[in-house]
Amino acid sequence: MSIIELIKQRRSIGKMTAEVPTRAQVETILEAATHAPNHHNAQPWRFFVLAGKAREELGIIMAESFATRMAEANHEKIDAMIAKERNKPLRAPVLIAVIAEQPKQARELEIENIEAAAAAVQNMLLAAEELGLAAMWRTGEPAYDPKVKQWLGLEEKDHIVAFVYLGYPATPRLERTPTPAAAKTSWLGW
Ligand SMILES: Cc1cc2nc3c(=O)[nH]c(=O)nc-3n(C[C@H](O)[C@H](O)[C@H](O)COP(=O)(O)O)c2cc1C
Repeated sequence: MSIIELIKQRRSIGKMTAEVPTRAQVETILEAATHAPNHHNAQPWRFFVLAGKAREELGIIMAESFATRMAEANHEKIDAMIAKERNKPLRAPVLIAVIAEQPKQARELEIENIEAAAAAVQNMLLAAEELGLAAMWRTGEPAYDPKVKQWLGLEEKDHIVAFVYLGYPATPRLERTPTPAAAKTSWLGW
Protein backbone atom coordinates (compact mmCIF):
# COMPACT_ATOMS: atom_id res chain seq x y z
CA MET A 1 0.00 0.00 0.00
CA SER A 2 1.29 3.49 -0.81
CA ILE A 3 1.85 5.96 2.03
CA ILE A 4 -0.96 8.14 0.62
CA GLU A 5 -3.37 5.20 0.74
CA LEU A 6 -2.21 4.33 4.26
CA ILE A 7 -2.78 7.92 5.44
CA LYS A 8 -6.29 7.87 4.02
CA GLN A 9 -7.07 4.45 5.45
CA ARG A 10 -5.88 5.25 9.00
CA ARG A 11 -8.69 5.84 11.48
CA SER A 12 -8.69 6.27 15.22
CA ILE A 13 -10.11 3.11 16.73
CA GLY A 14 -11.10 3.26 20.38
CA LYS A 15 -12.55 -0.22 20.77
CA MET A 16 -9.80 -2.81 21.05
CA THR A 17 -9.59 -6.47 21.91
CA ALA A 18 -7.57 -7.68 24.90
CA GLU A 19 -4.86 -9.13 22.64
CA VAL A 20 -1.53 -7.51 23.47
CA PRO A 21 0.63 -6.31 20.57
CA THR A 22 4.06 -7.92 20.56
CA ARG A 23 7.07 -6.12 21.94
CA ALA A 24 8.57 -6.19 18.42
CA GLN A 25 5.49 -4.37 17.09
CA VAL A 26 5.72 -1.74 19.82
CA GLU A 27 9.43 -1.31 19.10
CA THR A 28 8.69 -0.86 15.38
CA ILE A 29 6.19 1.86 16.27
CA LEU A 30 8.67 3.58 18.58
CA GLU A 31 11.36 3.44 15.92
CA ALA A 32 8.99 5.05 13.41
CA ALA A 33 8.44 7.84 15.95
CA THR A 34 12.15 8.58 16.10
CA HIS A 35 12.21 9.28 12.35
CA ALA A 36 9.89 12.28 12.71
CA PRO A 37 11.06 15.72 11.58
CA ASN A 38 12.51 17.83 14.37
CA HIS A 39 14.41 21.12 14.53
CA HIS A 40 18.08 21.36 15.53
CA ASN A 41 18.16 17.58 15.75
CA ALA A 42 16.60 18.01 19.19
CA GLN A 43 14.78 14.67 19.00
CA PRO A 44 12.70 16.07 21.85
CA TRP A 45 10.51 13.02 22.43
CA ARG A 46 10.38 10.52 25.24
CA PHE A 47 8.16 7.52 25.53
CA PHE A 48 6.64 5.57 28.39
CA VAL A 49 5.18 2.22 27.38
CA LEU A 50 2.43 1.31 29.84
CA ALA A 51 1.12 -2.23 29.89
CA GLY A 52 -0.38 -4.62 32.46
CA LYS A 53 -0.43 -3.23 36.00
CA ALA A 54 1.09 0.10 34.94
CA ARG A 55 -2.24 0.95 33.29
CA GLU A 56 -4.01 0.20 36.57
CA GLU A 57 -1.59 2.47 38.44
CA LEU A 58 -2.25 5.26 35.94
CA GLY A 59 -6.00 4.68 36.35
CA ILE A 60 -5.72 5.10 40.12
CA ILE A 61 -3.93 8.46 39.68
CA MET A 62 -6.48 9.55 37.08
CA ALA A 63 -9.37 8.58 39.34
CA GLU A 64 -7.86 10.43 42.33
CA SER A 65 -7.44 13.59 40.27
CA PHE A 66 -10.92 13.21 38.85
CA ALA A 67 -12.36 12.85 42.37
CA THR A 68 -10.50 16.00 43.45
CA ARG A 69 -11.86 17.91 40.46
CA MET A 70 -15.38 16.70 41.22
CA ALA A 71 -15.16 17.24 44.99
CA GLU A 72 -17.51 20.22 44.88
CA ALA A 73 -19.90 18.71 42.34
CA ASN A 74 -22.01 16.56 44.70
CA HIS A 75 -23.03 14.33 41.82
CA GLU A 76 -25.27 11.35 42.66
CA LYS A 77 -23.37 9.04 40.30
CA ILE A 78 -19.97 10.19 41.47
CA ASP A 79 -18.73 6.73 42.51
CA ALA A 80 -19.57 5.27 39.10
CA MET A 81 -17.90 8.24 37.39
CA ILE A 82 -14.73 7.79 39.45
CA ALA A 83 -14.71 4.05 38.66
CA LYS A 84 -15.12 4.86 34.96
CA GLU A 85 -12.16 7.24 35.09
CA ARG A 86 -10.06 4.57 36.83
CA ASN A 87 -10.81 2.09 34.05
CA LYS A 88 -10.00 4.40 31.17
CA PRO A 89 -6.38 3.20 30.70
CA LEU A 90 -7.72 -0.37 30.50
CA ARG A 91 -9.42 0.43 27.20
CA ALA A 92 -6.25 -0.75 25.43
CA PRO A 93 -3.69 -3.42 26.29
CA VAL A 94 -0.83 -0.95 25.71
CA LEU A 95 -0.58 2.81 26.14
CA ILE A 96 2.37 4.87 25.02
CA ALA A 97 2.72 8.26 26.66
CA VAL A 98 4.59 10.59 24.30
CA ILE A 99 6.41 13.46 25.97
CA ALA A 100 7.79 16.64 24.43
CA GLU A 101 10.95 17.50 26.34
CA GLN A 102 11.79 21.00 27.40
CA PRO A 103 14.34 22.80 25.17
CA LYS A 104 17.88 21.71 26.08
CA GLN A 105 19.62 24.64 24.38
CA ALA A 106 18.74 28.30 23.71
CA ARG A 107 17.98 27.84 20.01
CA GLU A 108 15.33 25.19 20.65
CA LEU A 109 11.79 26.50 20.95
CA GLU A 110 9.28 24.83 23.24
CA ILE A 111 6.56 25.01 20.58
CA GLU A 112 8.80 23.32 18.03
CA ASN A 113 9.57 20.49 20.43
CA ILE A 114 5.83 20.00 20.88
CA GLU A 115 5.37 20.07 17.11
CA ALA A 116 8.11 17.49 16.62
CA ALA A 117 6.60 15.22 19.27
CA ALA A 118 3.22 15.53 17.53
CA ALA A 119 4.88 14.54 14.25
CA ALA A 120 6.34 11.54 16.06
CA VAL A 121 2.83 10.60 17.22
CA GLN A 122 1.52 10.68 13.65
CA ASN A 123 4.39 8.41 12.59
CA MET A 124 3.33 6.05 15.36
CA LEU A 125 -0.29 6.03 14.23
CA LEU A 126 0.73 5.31 10.65
CA ALA A 127 3.14 2.56 11.70
CA ALA A 128 0.37 0.99 13.79
CA GLU A 129 -1.92 1.15 10.79
CA GLU A 130 0.63 -0.65 8.64
CA LEU A 131 0.97 -3.36 11.30
CA GLY A 132 -2.82 -3.87 11.32
CA LEU A 133 -3.13 -2.54 14.86
CA ALA A 134 -5.71 -0.15 16.28
CA ALA A 135 -4.44 3.12 17.66
CA MET A 136 -6.04 6.13 19.27
CA TRP A 137 -4.41 9.44 20.18
CA ARG A 138 -5.88 10.54 23.49
CA THR A 139 -5.18 13.51 25.76
CA GLY A 140 -7.92 14.95 27.98
CA GLU A 141 -7.35 16.09 31.57
CA PRO A 142 -4.82 13.32 32.36
CA ALA A 143 -2.37 14.71 29.78
CA TYR A 144 -2.23 18.01 31.65
CA ASP A 145 -2.48 16.60 35.18
CA PRO A 146 0.58 17.40 37.37
CA LYS A 147 -0.09 14.19 39.35
CA VAL A 148 0.14 12.06 36.21
CA LYS A 149 3.35 13.85 35.23
CA GLN A 150 4.75 13.29 38.72
CA TRP A 151 3.90 9.58 38.50
CA LEU A 152 5.93 9.40 35.27
CA GLY A 153 8.82 11.25 36.92
CA LEU A 154 8.25 14.31 34.76
CA GLU A 155 8.33 17.99 35.68
CA GLU A 156 5.12 20.00 35.60
CA LYS A 157 6.40 22.03 32.63
CA ASP A 158 6.95 18.87 30.53
CA HIS A 159 4.23 18.17 27.98
CA ILE A 160 2.39 14.90 27.59
CA VAL A 161 1.52 15.30 23.92
CA ALA A 162 -0.37 12.03 23.64
CA PHE A 163 -1.41 8.82 25.21
CA VAL A 164 -1.35 6.51 22.21
CA TYR A 165 -3.76 3.69 22.99
CA LEU A 166 -2.65 0.60 21.11
CA GLY A 167 -4.14 -2.81 20.49
CA TYR A 168 -6.03 -4.84 17.94
CA PRO A 169 -9.20 -3.38 16.42
CA ALA A 170 -12.55 -4.59 17.75
CA THR A 171 -14.48 -2.48 15.23
CA PRO A 172 -14.02 -1.86 11.50
CA ARG A 173 -12.40 1.32 10.17
CA LEU A 174 -15.04 3.73 8.89
CA GLU A 175 -14.39 5.88 5.88
CA ARG A 176 -13.40 9.49 6.55
CA THR A 177 -14.85 12.41 4.56
CA PRO A 178 -12.73 15.43 5.46
CA THR A 179 -13.47 18.96 4.27
CA PRO A 180 -11.74 19.12 0.89
CA ALA A 181 -8.29 20.70 0.94
CA ALA A 182 -9.51 23.24 -1.64
CA ALA A 183 -11.75 24.79 1.03
CA LYS A 184 -8.74 25.20 3.33
CA THR A 185 -6.16 26.36 0.79
CA SER A 186 -5.17 29.69 -0.72
CA TRP A 187 -2.89 29.35 -3.75
CA LEU A 188 -0.55 32.33 -4.01
CA GLY A 189 1.53 32.94 -7.17
CA TRP A 190 0.60 29.56 -8.66
C1 LIG B 1 -4.04 16.46 20.08
C2 LIG B 1 -5.11 15.41 19.95
C3 LIG B 1 -5.75 14.98 21.08
C4 LIG B 1 -6.76 14.01 20.99
N1 LIG B 1 -7.37 13.61 22.14
C5 LIG B 1 -8.40 12.74 22.05
C6 LIG B 1 -9.08 12.34 23.23
O1 LIG B 1 -8.75 12.74 24.34
N2 LIG B 1 -10.11 11.48 23.09
C7 LIG B 1 -10.50 11.00 21.87
O2 LIG B 1 -11.47 10.25 21.80
N3 LIG B 1 -9.83 11.33 20.74
C8 LIG B 1 -8.79 12.18 20.80
N4 LIG B 1 -8.10 12.51 19.67
C9 LIG B 1 -8.39 11.78 18.40
C10 LIG B 1 -9.42 12.46 17.58
O3 LIG B 1 -10.69 12.30 18.18
C11 LIG B 1 -9.43 11.84 16.17
O4 LIG B 1 -8.18 11.97 15.57
C12 LIG B 1 -10.49 12.55 15.34
O5 LIG B 1 -11.78 12.18 15.76
C13 LIG B 1 -10.39 12.21 13.85
O6 LIG B 1 -10.54 10.81 13.66
P1 LIG B 1 -9.44 9.98 12.84
O7 LIG B 1 -8.18 10.00 13.66
O8 LIG B 1 -10.03 8.62 12.69
O9 LIG B 1 -9.25 10.69 11.54
C14 LIG B 1 -7.11 13.47 19.72
C15 LIG B 1 -6.42 13.90 18.59
C16 LIG B 1 -5.44 14.86 18.69
C17 LIG B 1 -4.72 15.31 17.45
